[in-house]
Amino acid sequence: MTKSPEYDNKVKIRLCLGSSCFSRGNKTALNYIQDYIKKNALEDEVFLKGSLCEELCKDGPHMFVDDTHYSNLDPSTVIDLLQFHLNQRQTKDKG
Ligand code: FES
Repeated sequence: MTKSPEYDNKVKIRLCLGSSCFSRGNKTALNYIQDYIKKNALEDEVFLKGSLCEELCKDGPHMFVDDTHYSNLDPSTVIDLLQFHLNQRQTKDKG
């Protein structure tokens, strides 16, 4: 399946919402990310989806952003991580 150019240009976040990751922090991470997207009108810049258990529970919670995998995720860091990836995207666009 071919993705649209709009999709290709977005920062793509996949957040594990399996029960282990969800209860260990990704419930909070999800709220933070959704709030941040809404407050900053980033719907056109960020593609957020949840996944079922990634079968990596031991090292959870997990988040995947573009090609980067974050394990043992601390929900308090997700906005910094998102900003980092958004900045990277903007730098790439300019360069
Ligand atoms: S619930 Fe996230 S890896 Fe299993």
